[in-house]
Amino acid sequence: MDSESGVFRLRWTPSPSPTSPLVPNAKADEGQLHANGTGFEDINDLESYRSSSRGSLERYFPFSRTGVTSVPAPRLQPSHSLPKEGAKIGHTSSSRDESYSARATSFEDGGGVFLTWKDLWVTAADKRKEGQRPILGGLTGYAQPGEVLAVMGPSGCGKSTLLDALAGRLGLNMGKTGEILVNGRNEVLAYGTSAYVTQDDELMKTLTVSEAVRYSAQLQLPSSMSISEKLERADLVIRQMGLQDSINTVIGGWGRKGISGGQKRRVSICIEILTRPPLLFLDEPTSGLDSAASYHVMSRIAKLAQKDKSTVIASIHQPSGEVFELFHNLCLLCSGRLLYFGPTPDACQFFAQNGFPCPNLRNPSDHYLRTINGDFEVDIEEGNQGEMSAEKAVNILVESYEVSGTYYQLQNRVLAICYQEGEALEKGSQASFITQSFILTRRSFVNMYRDLGYYWLRLAIYIALCLCVGTIFHHIGHSYGSIQARGSMLMFVATFLTFMAIGGFPSFVEDMKIFQRERLNGHYGVGAYVIGNTLSSIPYLIVISLIPGVIAYYLVGLQKGLDHFVYFALVLFACMMLVESLMMIVASIVPDFLMGIITGAGIQGVMMLNGGFFRLPNDLPRPFWRYPVYYISFHKYAIQGFYKNEFEGLTFPNNQIGGPETITGEEILRSVWEVEMGYSKWVDLAILFGMVVVYRLMFFGIIKALETLEPMIMNQKRQLVNV
Ligand SMILES: Nc1ncnc2c1ncn2[C@@H]1O[C@H](COP(=O)(O)OP(=O)(O)OP(=O)(O)O)[C@@H](O)[C@H]1O
Ligand SMILES: [Mg+2]
Repeated sequence: MDSESGVFRLRWTPSPSPTSPLVPNAKADEGQLHANGTGFEDINDLESYRSSSRGSLERYFPFSRTGVTSVPAPRLQPSHSLPKEGAKIGHTSSSRDESYSARATSFEDGGGVFLTWKDLWVTAADKRKEGQRPILGGLTGYAQPGEVLAVMGPSGCGKSTLLDALAGRLGLNMGKTGEILVNGRNEVLAYGTSAYVTQDDELMKTLTVSEAVRYSAQLQLPSSMSISEKLERADLVIRQMGLQDSINTVIGGWGRKGISGGQKRRVSICIEILTRPPLLFLDEPTSGLDSAASYHVMSRIAKLAQKDKSTVIASIHQPSGEVFELFHNLCLLCSGRLLYFGPTPDACQFFAQNGFPCPNLRNPSDHYLRTINGDFEVDIEEGNQGEMSAEKAVNILVESYEVSGTYYQLQNRVLAICYQEGEALEKGSQASFITQSFILTRRSFVNMYRDLGYYWLRLAIYIALCLCVGTIFHHIGHSYGSIQARGSMLMFVATFLTFMAIGGFPSFVEDMKIFQRERLNGHYGVGAYVIGNTLSSIPYLIVISLIPGVIAYYLVGLQKGLDHFVYFALVLFACMMLVESLMMIVASIVPDFLMGIITGAGIQGVMMLNGGFFRLPNDLPRPFWRYPVYYISFHKYAIQGFYKNEFEGLTFPNNQIGGPETITGEEILRSVWEVEMGYSKWVDLAILFGMVVVYRLMFFGIIKALETLEPMIMNQKRQLVNV
């Protein structure tokens, strides 16, 4: 009910379409019901649209509370005198050609990102044929500020590949030729210059919707904004995406149910539109959404695009008629070939003129896909019913499009954009390094606290294991036999117990996936991530070294004195940090968690074997095993530190015939364990902490190196293909 007039009004009315404009309906225009239950609220931020030049049209499209929803293609002033010939040869009417070119905008019109691609080919290695399989075949197109380009086509036609190619995110096994220009410049999209909502949602499953977006706002938004402004922006985008009813719901993931798939999609979009990026890629933003939610999400994105003059490229499946009309241009693909690129409303006429008219009451986008999708063409039971095959239809459409006026217009538009060189794309200002490090530390700390698999499960296992150690070696005493028992117990703690830090690897791989998504979108730097991850884990590792450590230490009855226990706990802590750092390095190179665990376990197995317990140091084969592996293995310093901490200052009865009655701990260290006695146990500890720093720096270096090397390898490959 309208709060002011007290009258019920229709919410759902036919949308005004550029192809079949609505006659203003005075009754429908009177107002509308509140959008109760849809989850979408009126957003103050969008108020300005009501007063835009399209305001008069919007009055006839009462869809939401405000009735501000439809975004017909804007009609911008032409800035180029495009050749007129296109109108002659084309299928489209001259009025359509005019509307197409009338939307043409230029760099002078107020910045923004003009993206063009010409004759774009993408290939993937084909193992069976030992050659390259084309995935995209000679595509040409453009996207410009204030507009939303829809990429459509049957599943597997290359939509995601096109977005990846344009965003510079193709995998190393893929080749690319053709020209992709940003503002007419041959420029690689740097981190943070564009935002990409990928097809898969990589979100921190332990956070609530509000936390995820708010942390992201604090990470991404510049220091010039106050914290309250950042949080307000976060809350605004949450409402824009209709998530206000689930702000306190956990995102969830495997093993923990949280928000729905469609809500996850919207959280991903929220995070990427926070900074209002000038160039936004959306891979199936409406997957999992009902038709009303799809409409609201897309209309808000279209409005933001128009308001902020941002360029939006979205791949989309099954858009409803309402959603379809929100797109300014349509890029229709089939098996990587371009079937149509042009104004969305003109596609209907293009299909009709080629013998595929859209039946009445059928959604045009459904009709296009039904015409060109050949995946399910042959009816398995009844065979082909004599209908024209999709392959034939695709061939007709491709050939027809290549001689159409729309294609001619497209070529001209791409040429015109490429001709004028605009400004280089610059990364917007961001939060300071300290803010990013602080927020990442906090977010990671919360995540570790809530993820049982990260530390809590490990703590429980460690306590159980230390109880086992404590009871097996209980009251070890000071007999001659206790020398060997002490050595074995300390070796177990230094190697096998710390080895179990590997158990956090799956959680860490999840973290890395989120890091990779956020890093590619330029949310923060590698340094801030490494610092955040390191600092957030320290309190948990302290707890894990202290509680199980105290159980093992005092049940066994190792050297009395708090300083000895503190040293024991510090070595345990350093070893766990080292194992974690090692696993971080592994995760940055081997992102698959099963392969990562096997690799990490293998590396640690080699180091343990070489730590000086299973084979005494002087017996290790000199080349390789003694020099350098023995000195690289952190187990060597941990074991020797433990031994010095325990044996120094103790005396044991000597059971060797003819020898002295007692034997000192120092002698045992020298003769039995072959420990290097030239330096104190604190040096061993310092080396361990030094190794932690080196490992973390290596992790940082590897990520940085991969970021630099990957584009270089891609460039090299491209040059080779071109030769
Ligand atoms: N790295 C790759 N190596 C080999 N083939 C690939 C690779 N990436 C994509 N392909 C193939 O390229 C084609 C297009 O894939 P793409 O993911 O772009 O399709 P899509 O249109 O996004 O499909 P969907 O709508 O199902 O998401 C598919 O046949 C896919 O198998
Ligand atoms: Mg896809």
